[in-house]
Amino acid sequence: MDLTHRPRRLRKDGIRDLVSETVLEPSDFIAPVFVDATTDERVPIPSMPGHERVPVDDAVARVEEILETGVQAIMLFGIPHSKDAAGTRAWADDGVVQEATRRIRAATDASVVTDVCLCEYTDHGHCGPLEEGVHPDAGATQDRTAPTHEHHAHDHLTVDNDATLESLGQIAVSHAEAGAAMVAPSGMMDGMVGAIRAALDEAGHTDVAIMSYAAKYQSAFYGPFRDAADGAPAFGDRRHYQMDPANRREAGREVRLDVEQGADVLMVKPALPYLDIVSDLRREFDHPIAAYNVSGEYAMLHAAGEKGWLDLEAVALESLVSIKRAGADLILTYFAEDVAARL
Ligand code: PBG
Repeated sequence: MDLTHRPRRLRKDGIRDLVSETVLEPSDFIAPVFVDATTDERVPIPSMPGHERVPVDDAVARVEEILETGVQAIMLFGIPHSKDAAGTRAWADDGVVQEATRRIRAATDASVVTDVCLCEYTDHGHCGPLEEGVHPDAGATQDRTAPTHEHHAHDHLTVDNDATLESLGQIAVSHAEAGAAMVAPSGMMDGMVGAIRAALDEAGHTDVAIMSYAAKYQSAFYGPFRDAADGAPAFGDRRHYQMDPANRREAGREVRLDVEQGADVLMVKPALPYLDIVSDLRREFDHPIAAYNVSGEYAMLHAAGEKGWLDLEAVALESLVSIKRAGADLILTYFAEDVAARL
């Protein structure tokens, strides 16, 4: 037995930390914050323990709590006081995200990143205005005899890609004007990064960065978020714009388009079930890679922790280390505060 090589030598106390390959820091994290124009009290989010929707008046206090843990960046999501078919409150000057951004920037040093999407602002909950179906299976959905396909009254409707682009440009400019350092388009519309870059530049915001939700999958792990942000689609799902979880090579094609259009940071979402994608993108691109450890990833660890089946603090930390080890430079996570405070 040749035991010249004994890897356990490096696992001894005092050595193990010296050879650690991955170190998490509070500056790796972006903490999501939900600002709600429909309430004047904080509303806990049942499926996301420890998180709440906060009224605009509480936005600064909420961000100060986060800054105290060492986390320096936040991602703002808004729940508007009213919704319509086009999602017009998304780019209103006095909109919930615009107002919260102005106050946070005036009172704190936090870097404000804003989610640029329409699903929280449209009354149908889709990520853009609707049009008559032109999606590839539109024909199939008309075949009322097909036994394997469930039919719905809205099967013929889909998101109008090019009309959405114009709105996304307006939203991004309104967020930049309010003081956002970085905008994060999450709608998976073709051409969204290019449209936003052009709109920002034309408005003089050449220094506002774009973090694209570049490889965003159509995932069931977004469930708790849709309760939190009130953005569930009223009918159907997002399979006509978000990526098929079965596809790995497609992520490269999808992300390359965003790079060509000027994306500054490339995000993969969700994180844990998609670490192969994080790792692929890390090798293929030299842009910063972000991973979104989504609401369902947070909720399931909390649920198991509550049952006493898992050690919540340990699995949270292990999850984030793993996401970074796979190649993420920054991590959007609902664990940001808890983990940062312990580092
Ligand atoms: C909006 C958006 C979603 C998430 C982030 N931005 C929901 C969705 O695409 O349905 C999900 C975040 C999470 O689950 O934590 N498009």
